Amino acid sequence: MVATAKFSQTAIERPEVADYKETGYEQCWYPVAQSKEIAPGKIVGQDFLDGRVIIYRDTAGQVHVMAAYCKHLGTDLSLAKVVGDAVRCPFHAWEYGPDGVCTKIPSLGSADEIPSRAKLFSYPVEENLDIIWVFNGVKPLYPVPTFTRSVDMSRMTFKVFEAQEKFRAEPWWIFTTNVFDFQHLSVLHGLGEMAFEIDVQDYSIGYAGGGITVWGVNCTLGISPQRTMVGGGTPLPGGGRKGYRVYAFDHGSGSKKEIAEAEAKIDELYEHETRIIVDDDVPIIDTLNYKAGGVLVPADRALATFLRYAQQYPRITTAELIAGAEHGNGRG
Ligand code: FES
Ligand SMILES: [Fe+2]
Repeated sequence: MVATAKFSQTAIERPEVADYKETGYEQCWYPVAQSKEIAPGKIVGQDFLDGRVIIYRDTAGQVHVMAAYCKHLGTDLSLAKVVGDAVRCPFHAWEYGPDGVCTKIPSLGSADEIPSRAKLFSYPVEENLDIIWVFNGVKPLYPVPTFTRSVDMSRMTFKVFEAQEKFRAEPWWIFTTNVFDFQHLSVLHGLGEMAFEIDVQDYSIGYAGGGITVWGVNCTLGISPQRTMVGGGTPLPGGGRKGYRVYAFDHGSGSKKEIAEAEAKIDELYEHETRIIVDDDVPIIDTLNYKAGGVLVPADRALATFLRYAQQYPRITTAELIAGAEHGNGRG
């Protein structure tokens, strides 16, 4: 139990909620698109954190995510064309390879060199569980979210669900606090009394006995006897988040019938869990002024532990990330 007499005399301090818009966003793996949305030959532009990116596939099908603005005059390269493995800006036809380096400037004479600063920031990217994940750093701080190794994926049917959850409350990752807010699980969701000790690592935090692991501040691995789920979120420009949940379900020997049954089970689980863990929260979170609150009690100890972890979590602005990469200081 978290709320024991030992703690009841102690005031629980809520850490300051950082103004992440000034400090930049947490350095995490962010789900930005489903694999099926990025067709070969197509460039998708997307606002990403406090910047903008383009997403495309090279001729081998490998996904690349780069800062969106051409280094020449700043055209949004979502208007560019994929040419082989590169993207070509429509304005003056500069071309950039998958590593972001400019490979061609047609107006240059044969003796002229391509300026070394003509390089787009190329983000670390991984395609996993039919989702494209992007890390806002020079190098990822932890592995891309996935099911645990104890889950044999060859026996699993898995399915991705995506939802736009619009709400005004900040910080945008406020949904993640829910799994550490044991009081609301019982009061709002009627899930009964729960409390777990919290295990804090550098880039993850979770229930000490297993069950829930949060990577960064935005992705959750949930394992229960009923199901295995990986969830992740990326902030929406207007507030709230684009949320993804991937459910895996054992399909036994993998016959057509077993796979169909597993898929039906997954649909049922998704609807059920959305009803009990998302739908009740959204109207409340939409009104929440998180910074106006802050009087915590012993039952909030796990929540406070998560908030302290989130407060100390590394952040970076897109401008700092790009400038750092250009000057080779490797921050992030
Ligand atoms: S703005 Fe892109 S090539 Fe000139
Ligand atoms: Fe909730």
